[in-house]
Amino acid sequence: MAIQWFPGHMHLTRKAIGERIKEIDVVIELLDARLPGSSANPMLAEITKGKPALKVLNKQDLADPARTAAWLAHFNAQPGVRALPLDASMSTPSRALVAACQALAPNRGGMTKPMRVLICGIPNVGKSTLINTLKGKRAAKTGDEAGVTKIEQRITIADDFYLYDTPGILWPRIIVAKSGYNLAASGAVGRNAFEDEEVALELLDYMRQHYAPALEARYKIQDAAALSDEQLLEGVGRKRGALLGGGRVNLNHAAEIVIHDFRSGALGRVTLETPEEFAQWLEVGEKLDAERQIKKDAIDLARNIRLKKVARPPKHGSRGAPEDAQDGAQDEASD
Ligand code: G4P
Repeated sequence: MAIQWFPGHMHLTRKAIGERIKEIDVVIELLDARLPGSSANPMLAEITKGKPALKVLNKQDLADPARTAAWLAHFNAQPGVRALPLDASMSTPSRALVAACQALAPNRGGMTKPMRVLICGIPNVGKSTLINTLKGKRAAKTGDEAGVTKIEQRITIADDFYLYDTPGILWPRIIVAKSGYNLAASGAVGRNAFEDEEVALELLDYMRQHYAPALEARYKIQDAAALSDEQLLEGVGRKRGALLGGGRVNLNHAAEIVIHDFRSGALGRVTLETPEEFAQWLEVGEKLDAERQIKKDAIDLARNIRLKKVARPPKHGSRGAPEDAQDGAQDEASD
């Protein structure tokens, strides 16, 4: 089942970004380096269209270095976009961020024209950690829930460099099914919006095909690539003692183990998508979404016609059926 999560507080964040964007010089989008395509927010792209963009591939320490290089090249080839890798171990990330923003908006800077930067990202991408490092002290976490903290905080990086922080945000409809799973695996999606087992099976399916040695090493499993996803999950459960009575595997617990191991990096440096794969998934997602929209439009049209028939009183002088019903009958007859 497709994973979707867009709770009310994200509506507020979307609104706040829309209001702020006019006076922003550069938009920094923090991406998860393990899912750079899936963690890029299409709604944000729409709201911030035309603004210079800095894509920061965060948690690069957990991602596959060769794939991070491919994603950086992919983003850097786009006009008005720069990309750089980052992780929490970097003690002075501000230098690289400030330099990249200056390159993107060279006309800004100095006390009269301070650089105004908006920083956004999906939940759990590491934004609070980065902001805390930039501030140089423990700062209040920017809550993902409305009312927990303000929608937006301004942080002064230098006298002429302001950073506007926003809470983590997803988008109303995730049309790429694989993105939903990858986002859930990364911890960006609320716990109640997905089934652990389903997400773990997708994760194992991808890793079996691309990172089989990592699975074999972590779970002491032989020939992971030859096993089905279900056999792999069972294998993880047995090796890690996730058992129910009668020797049966507790599949939900096994799934939690797999997801936790991915999030913590215990499975090694893994990236769940390449630029080419993501482009294919997006194409399929857009096609399915267009088909869904056509079906929905047809249903809406049929409903509107039905409602019109019920709502409209019979014409003066007419003996029975309202005009629209007669029209409909004619249409059917002529079909
Ligand atoms: P958010 O504000 O975007 O929601 O994310 P936050 O900074 O709270 O980070 C989410 C989790 O990701 C935290 O782990 C944090 O330590 C971890 N993290 C952030 N940046 C990096 C990074 O560059 N590399 C790695 N490996 N991890 C990173 P947590 O287990 O949820 O919390 P904690 O106990 O570590 O604080």
